[in-house]
Amino acid sequence: MTIPFILDTDTAQDDCVAIIASLLDPEADLRAITMVAGNVGFDRQVRNAQMTLSAAGRLGSVPIHLGCRRPLVLPWVSAENVHGDGSGGLDMDFTGTATEQEHGVDALIRLTAEAPGEISVVAIGPLTNIAMAAVKEPAFVDNVKRLVIMGGSNNGRGNITPAGEFNFYVDPHAAHVVFEAGFRDVTVVPWAPLTLNDAVFSREQLAGIDAIGTPLSRFFLTVCGPTLAFDESVGIPGTTHPDSLSVGILLHPELVTQAGDYHVAVEADSGLTRGYSAMSWGVHGLEPNARVVETADGEAFHRWIEGLLATPTEVSRPLRGGLFD
Ligand code: RIB
Ligand code: CA
Repeated sequence: MTIPFILDTDTAQDDCVAIIASLLDPEADLRAITMVAGNVGFDRQVRNAQMTLSAAGRLGSVPIHLGCRRPLVLPWVSAENVHGDGSGGLDMDFTGTATEQEHGVDALIRLTAEAPGEISVVAIGPLTNIAMAAVKEPAFVDNVKRLVIMGGSNNGRGNITPAGEFNFYVDPHAAHVVFEAGFRDVTVVPWAPLTLNDAVFSREQLAGIDAIGTPLSRFFLTVCGPTLAFDESVGIPGTTHPDSLSVGILLHPELVTQAGDYHVAVEADSGLTRGYSAMSWGVHGLEPNARVVETADGEAFHRWIEGLLATPTEVSRPLRGGLFD
């Protein structure tokens, strides 16, 4: 029985890997991609998603709905210093590529309302679309089967600031709305310590991916290259992959080796701690509103991604740049 879900993404680098996993894993029934303002320029994110679909030989096979182009309250903040433009310098002919007329927020509401309690959502960017859907249509909160959120840190360091992880930092008001909304089943995949411990691919592991020699392994290395340089410059020994881990946790819950019930609240008003996720582990009299993943099987996660990248694909359209030149 496959798992139906919607992927809400700010497509760059690790989001691209999450899309590949969402397309190719045999358990995955990817119903739609909804785009949200985050990593890089919005229209660039759309092209990054289309190139990813093309690399998997699946261009046009999944509807892409354009969602919110800026956070709810604060101005957009980019992560272009981390990802470049998220494409690793790749390009392709986008003539005739299309996105859906229906807004991403409306698609989230409609698709989950058409099958109440059956479709999950994996949110791997700022939570603007998810919050807007919950505000526009309160029934959305009950219609979503499971909400998997990549964001925050579990009493750990941020990344864009000492306190803030990027997705929650960009739109802390949306994160506040989502955690207060009452979704029935929320799983949080945090940056620290989880991602830093269990979802970093080392140079040695990247060399193993290079040896695979498929279009997907070349695509992976091309889009993740710029982020490797940044990550190493800030002391992270490899490329970080919290987004594909979030998809993996939905499709293969056995990847989770330790998790706990927490009350999660996100700071939206402080400049210093904007986006900080206060995760209470049950001793502060706060009702849990999420299951937070504490540890994952990093080796199994890496094997899973390697296996997907080994899938032979015929690219939908020729890709230029990076390892495709
Ligand atoms: O902090 C990590 C998150 O921010 C990931 O989703 C990455 O893609 C960026 O959006
Ligand atoms: Ca992301």
